[in-house]
Amino acid sequence: MHRICFVCLGNICRSPMAQGVFADAASRVGLEDIAIDSAGTGGWHIGAPPDRRAIAAVAGRGIDIAHLRARQFVADDFNRFDIIAAMDASNLAELRSLGLPEHAGKVRLFLDFARDFPVREVPDPYYGGPEGFDRVLDLLEIASQGLIDHITRARS
Ligand code: 4NP
Repeated sequence: MHRICFVCLGNICRSPMAQGVFADAASRVGLEDIAIDSAGTGGWHIGAPPDRRAIAAVAGRGIDIAHLRARQFVADDFNRFDIIAAMDASNLAELRSLGLPEHAGKVRLFLDFARDFPVREVPDPYYGGPEGFDRVLDLLEIASQGLIDHITRARS
C-alpha cells in the first residue's frame, strides 16, 4: 500500500490536478493498493472546489476533479501518508518547517520522481492565463509517470 498526498499552496489548482492526473495514470497501468489525496499549505480555500480553470484543463484530458474539495495540510498527514509530493520549492520548505526531522524523507518535490527531467517545480498558474494550466498538466503527466515507475520499482 502506497499512500500519497499531493501538496500545493491553495489546494485548488495544482494539487487537485495532480491528484486527478496521477489517479488516472495509475488506473491506466493497473496500479493497485494506492491511496491518493491532496492538500494545501494555506487555508484560504478550505471547502472550495478546484479552480474552474483547473477543472476545465483536466476535463480536456478526460479527467473529472469537480467533486474534490480543498483542505489544509495538517501535522497528522505526516503519519497518514508515505509520500508527500510538493509542487514547488516554497511548498516543500513550508512542509519541512511543519514536520519533524524524521518526516523529511517522505517530503519530496513531485518532479523529483521524473528522473533526468530538467524542470524541478510545477509553477503556480493561479494568476496567469489558461496556457499556464496546460503547462501544469504537461508537467503533472511527466511527474506521474515518474512516480508510477518509482512505485513499480519499489514493489518489484
Ligand atoms: P495552487 O494555486 O497552490 O496551485 O492551488 C493557488 C491557489 C490560490 C492561491 C494561490 C495559489 N491564492 O493565493 O489564493
